[in-house]
Amino acid sequence: MKRNILVTGGAGFIGSHVVRRLVNAYPDYLVVNLDKLTYAGNLANLKEVENRPNYRFVKGDICDRELLRDLFARHAIDGVIHLAAESHVDRSIHDPLTFARTNVMGTLALLEAAHEAWNGAWEGKRFHHVSTDEVYGALGFDGTLFTERTRYDPHSPYSASKASSDHFVRAFHDTYGLPTVVTNCSNNYGPYQFPEKLIPLFINNIRHGRPLPVYGKGENVRDWLYVEDHARALDLVFHEGHTGETYNIGGFNEWRNIDLIRVLVRTVDRLLGREEGASDGLITYVTDRAGHDLRYAIDSRKLKDELGWEPSLQFEEGIEKTVKWYLENQAWMDEITSGDYESYYERMYANR
Ligand code: NAD
Ligand code: TYD
Repeated sequence: MKRNILVTGGAGFIGSHVVRRLVNAYPDYLVVNLDKLTYAGNLANLKEVENRPNYRFVKGDICDRELLRDLFARHAIDGVIHLAAESHVDRSIHDPLTFARTNVMGTLALLEAAHEAWNGAWEGKRFHHVSTDEVYGALGFDGTLFTERTRYDPHSPYSASKASSDHFVRAFHDTYGLPTVVTNCSNNYGPYQFPEKLIPLFINNIRHGRPLPVYGKGENVRDWLYVEDHARALDLVFHEGHTGETYNIGGFNEWRNIDLIRVLVRTVDRLLGREEGASDGLITYVTDRAGHDLRYAIDSRKLKDELGWEPSLQFEEGIEKTVKWYLENQAWMDEITSGDYESYYERMYANR
């Protein structure tokens, strides 16, 4: 079947992997990428597909209702994969309103546009909302996992805004019958991630001999998934997930921050031909993040049992691939870290 899919936030980290996957895997589809190109959006992430006949880029804001109306009509959009968001917890602590605007109001504008364009003709339509495990709050160290039935309990302005958007998506399904699916994924890592998130930030800092600011005691736990495994799960859920359902996506791959950081330090040093332990002294404990969630861990058995998805990469393999990618693509990193980045980083670091 031919489809016309609107991907929002396709110039960001995960979105660029999703766009690349769809454009390559479905030559008969039209993939329209709507992205505002905030600091986190980067068209260099999409060089491989930019000239493909089944791909269009539109620079614009998901809050722009006129633009959305026009895009749905002009391209006869029948599917949405919604990734556009403000995505960094630390930024949300300093600027929560921007998070409410894009993540809540932007999602609502998109839901309204889909509702209006499809207007009850739901057959063959799908609105896939991409969300995070952070909406579930924090776990203790008792081995419990987040399931699709875990009560929402967000703590940061970022997770609160994503939780709110998830509720609106479900409300549009329950109230109007909009054919929605929601996925909640754990922390992603891999190529093209903006260097404000732990893994690319620390790889870049180790390379340049800069301090590695570890929040608190480094004991917080995250469940890490390679980004291409996430993109594969999104493709599967978009096409085969059951309408109205939620699917958790995760790697069953929990790491304490400090242990992960030690792996990063060892891997970067080894790949740069430095002596073992050369960069250990960069690890610097700093004031903890406000409201820092202790542990996230996803139970993705529903996705495995219903749709057969499993993560494909072992973490050690994924980290090796990721570190190599950042070291081999220093021009990509240099481009991003030029301009405003340095002053932003200094400001953030001064706050810690
Ligand atoms: P990102 O910050 O790398 O990219 C976000 C993209 O959205 C950027 O290209 C940006 O330009 C665009 N954007 C922001 N505001 C916009 C607006 N108003 N209109 C149009 N475009 C806008 O984010 P990411 O890490 O790729 O995350 C993508 C989605 O996946 C988000 O919804 C996030 O909540 C979710 N998610 C992320 C992770 C993770 O570990 N990164 C985990 C689970 C879920
Ligand atoms: P991050 O990549 O920001 O993702 P999230 O907050 O969405 O989980 O952070 C991952 C973990 O690393 C989180 O527990 C916070 C911690 N962290 C640091 O210790 N130092 C840092 O400079 C950053 C960015 C994160």
